[in-house]
Amino acid sequence: MYNLLKGKRGIITGALDQNSIAWKVAQRAYAEGATFTLTNAPVAMRMGAINELAAACNTIVIPADATSIEDLENLYKKSEEHLGGKLDFVLHSIGMSPNVRKKKDYGDLNYEWFLKTLDISALSFHKMMQVGEKLDVFADGGSIVALTYIAAQKVFPDYGDMAQAKAVLESIARSYGYRLGKAKGIRVNTISQSPTPTTAGTGVGGFDVFMDYADKMSPLGNATAEDCANYVITLFSDLTKKVTMQNLYHDGGFSSSGITDAIIEQFTQSK
Ligand SMILES: NC(=O)c1ccc[n+]([C@@H]2O[C@H](COP(=O)([O-])OP(=O)(O)OC[C@H]3O[C@@H](n4cnc5c(N)ncnc54)[C@H](O)[C@@H]3O)[C@@H](O)[C@H]2O)c1
Repeated sequence: MYNLLKGKRGIITGALDQNSIAWKVAQRAYAEGATFTLTNAPVAMRMGAINELAAACNTIVIPADATSIEDLENLYKKSEEHLGGKLDFVLHSIGMSPNVRKKKDYGDLNYEWFLKTLDISALSFHKMMQVGEKLDVFADGGSIVALTYIAAQKVFPDYGDMAQAKAVLESIARSYGYRLGKAKGIRVNTISQSPTPTTAGTGVGGFDVFMDYADKMSPLGNATAEDCANYVITLFSDLTKKVTMQNLYHDGGFSSSGITDAIIEQFTQSK
């Protein structure tokens, strides 16, 4: 451990269970000396696992539906109170598509659900920053990170309307990054992570094949949730003060690979 987050305060969203990327981020942030609150949607709280994480990180859980302005206001007020100061970091680790969950074909989307997908998976990021800015809870020089997927740039058919949500999410990071950068020297970035076996990840059709393919297409292999947590910590730390408004690929090289030896081998074998 490097004490990279010593004295820093923050909020970590999206830890549902031990597989969640946010869960690993919380464990790493705690180990690096940060203090933070945890939050998730009230429905997700019923599973109860997040309370274990809170105990292990010596903190509290504040329920908040990330699409609700009221809930977010309450989240920030309680967090500031509990942590005793302004926030140095925020992790947005939230994604859900009713269309993907219910396996709706891309040519037969339910538009009410599409709007929900966008609200939960993308607008919530804007809401978190807008509410935080209005309440003036962000410390100067802080860092805000959201998690995304390369389906924003390339087609992955089973990813459905989440592809549009991720494109909006990444765009919000640039627009709000500009604003918060000028106002308070705050960085805003998205991390584009490899497929990872979590509840959200495995909800996408054909996930196992997807993961195997990505692994073979990546010279370093897929990045795990733990790897992702390590990367998030660097972005929350003072070592990345001038990195902002970026979509940062954290995918073992997948995004820059056209074909790999492993894929050639696989196709040769199957011929
Ligand atoms: N797993 C992957 O393959 C993968 C790859 C790239 C990016 N991501 C992204 O990483 C992030 C975290 O997902 P994960 O893979 O750890 O899965 P996960 O299922 O563990 O986390 C998703 C979280 O979103 C929360 N959530 C859903 N609706 C919410 C709402 N209205 N308000 C507040 N929280 C809400 C869920 O309760 C859950 O904790 C997501 O943005 C996801 O799209 C995942």
